[in-house]
Amino acid sequence: MHKNIGTIQSEAIEQIHKACTMPELDTIELSLFGRKHGMLSEILKGLKDLDVAARKVQGELANDAKGAIQSELDERRAELIEQETGGDIDVTECLIPPLPRGTLHPITLISDELEDMFSGMGFRVYDGPEIETEYYNFEALNIGVDHPARDMQDTFYIKDLPGRLMRTHTSSSQVRAMREFGAPLAVIVPGRCFRNEATDARHEHTFFQLEGFVVGSDISFAHLKGILEATARHLYGSDTQVRLRPKYYPFVEPGVNGEVTCLLCRGSGCRLCKSTGFLEIFGAGRIHPHVLREGGLDPKKWSGLAFGFGLTRLAMLKYGIDDVRLFESGDLAFLKQF
Ligand code: FA5
Repeated sequence: MHKNIGTIQSEAIEQIHKACTMPELDTIELSLFGRKHGMLSEILKGLKDLDVAARKVQGELANDAKGAIQSELDERRAELIEQETGGDIDVTECLIPPLPRGTLHPITLISDELEDMFSGMGFRVYDGPEIETEYYNFEALNIGVDHPARDMQDTFYIKDLPGRLMRTHTSSSQVRAMREFGAPLAVIVPGRCFRNEATDARHEHTFFQLEGFVVGSDISFAHLKGILEATARHLYGSDTQVRLRPKYYPFVEPGVNGEVTCLLCRGSGCRLCKSTGFLEIFGAGRIHPHVLREGGLDPKKWSGLAFGFGLTRLAMLKYGIDDVRLFESGDLAFLKQF
């Protein structure tokens, strides 16, 4: 038995000196100290069956061997590390491969671009709540409880919060901003909107708008047209035409919908623009006196203009995306293109 421990020790030390890799050292360590069949572990386990005197002698030998082998293992491991690193260990080196980098969402890209453009024209960027009150989303905008315009925007109401809903448009921030900042003011509100709609290639239940409004002492339709043309040309090129046609919105008077030259056919007529040469991208108008009053402003003293772009649609046109559902799909093949 005494001889055995000595043999185990000398053979192990010889193997350790010959080992050239970490896995080899691990295998040697396991064959000696492994809990199940390690040679020295087995000897230590068997000590309990020996009489007291033999146990003492064997125990000391086994523990001495264990200590000696362990220090040879440590030493050889340190030698191998030194060989691999040339003696220098860079403790700051990160061995985890870098994670793949993401890209900005196309809505973020176009929103940032327009925020820059409008900030340059003196507009303040405002961030209204997505969970909105019925008052700011409808009543403050001249859309009373029984007003048919409520049906035009199928609304998600929140069951456990009476009087609260997911805002159906960013116009809900108009009266909030007027109350917060007073007049004169120029504000844009980029943000997410929600409508309980059947989805298709042009309609989503969750989409983005960019609202803009200006209140001053003498704001005219010419100001409105100038801002809308600057935006359309900034996004789609200097030869882009803007066409305004009358449209009813309860919170503007008069109201228009705005179209730009079709980006696909540049005005000659195609399937996308249904042969009209134009594409609808926003609603706009002069702010209704009811809305100014709700915002705490005297309509005899102040006038205003407002416009609401479908930001998602602007991005579709700018990047040639033919299905609105891709934006919320989380599809990496789509997102990596931007
Ligand atoms: C409005 O939401 C008005 N608040 C716009 C406005 C603001 C008018 C200020 C006057 C003054 P409308 O419901 O038309 O209007 O929506 C405006 C734009 O949002 C549309 O032209 C379209 O581009 C986009 N939009 C509306 N519904 C959806 C939808 N389900 N999916 C994707 N885009 C949509």
